[in-house]
Amino acid sequence: MRVLLVIGAGPGQGAVPSLIAALRRREWAVLPILSTPAAASCADLWSSLCAAPVGFLDAPPAADVALLAPCAVPLPPAVAALVSHRRAAGVPVVSVPTASAPARPGPRPAGAAAWEVVPAALPLLGGGVAPLWLAGPEAVAEAVAAAVTRPDLAGKGILVTAGPTVEDIDPVRFLSNRSSGLMGLSLALSAWRRGAAVTLVHGPLQVAVPALPGLEAVPVRSAAQMHQAVLERIAAQAAAILCAAVADFAPRQVAAQKIKKTAAGVAEDPTLPLRRTPDILAALGALPRRPFLVGFAAETDHVEAHALDKLRRKGCDLLCANDVTEPGSGFAVATNRITILARDGSITPLPLLSKSAAADCILDRVAAALAP
Ligand code: C5P
Repeated sequence: MRVLLVIGAGPGQGAVPSLIAALRRREWAVLPILSTPAAASCADLWSSLCAAPVGFLDAPPAADVALLAPCAVPLPPAVAALVSHRRAAGVPVVSVPTASAPARPGPRPAGAAAWEVVPAALPLLGGGVAPLWLAGPEAVAEAVAAAVTRPDLAGKGILVTAGPTVEDIDPVRFLSNRSSGLMGLSLALSAWRRGAAVTLVHGPLQVAVPALPGLEAVPVRSAAQMHQAVLERIAAQAAAILCAAVADFAPRQVAAQKIKKTAAGVAEDPTLPLRRTPDILAALGALPRRPFLVGFAAETDHVEAHALDKLRRKGCDLLCANDVTEPGSGFAVATNRITILARDGSITPLPLLSKSAAADCILDRVAAALAP
């Protein structure tokens, strides 16, 4: 994708390098243009950060989306002319206003070709708030991706569970697993880009959730907390995608104090009594009025047979199976090779993809199923 980046002058410029880095991490071509002559003093810097020559306002290169950051209000006349020209040509425009612009919170307007990113306030050490600036480079990059995505889930409630759960043994020890939460976050962002109202119920994550209007993050710790948080919110959902690596067992009791190895009654070779945790997916599958349900299955052998059995047993509509022993698939890597199994018995193997691209394929199926 080609992003035309119209770089404004002013205090917000300091955050532009990290924004360029976030755009380029997505392997987008970033084509810089300077909105005023005052911004030209850094032309060489922008050119090298974008690995592209700085273009001219009156002859902008062709691009799939235009991004104005920082965006002065009102726009300089030459930028306003460029924006109206691009909009007339059907190119979406995303603007990131500076501090002087009024913040406009709220979800993404359905089907909008132009979208203003709400600037976030930066809290200062010692109190106070710095000039309003970017909502954060990842949030802006997501807004750019959303601007070129068909909003085929507009207004639909999609709940995603992500990450591991943590089951406490005592105040310092716990049982958990290696899930980073990247696959679940990728699913939530894919749904958000399509205009869904997303609820992300997650255990402790190794990835950051960008602050986006219309994406509600609900942090939890244990399987029991995740179960409760999901059930409380399920009535509003058109679909639920359960990607969390929920602990299957939790200690039967959580000790109030750290368990001392020298304490009376602690054997030389102690055992930890466990109980089963609630199966959230199976609980949703058994609801009388359940949303469209997508489950995940991390398997190590006989992947399709185990996954098909799980789909039937848990009452899912789709089950995404992956072989976690395969290189590049599963925990703590950026890629995944998923096979999508459906209730009708159809089996769709996806190639090895980034977790974001794999999430888009899964959301294609969800959107198709929810289409009127
Ligand atoms: O049974 P297994 O854990 O392999 O099933 C995996 C699927 O079930 C995943 O979608 C996972 O999020 C969900 N699950 C759940 N609650 C549990 C265990 C698994 O929702 N207690």
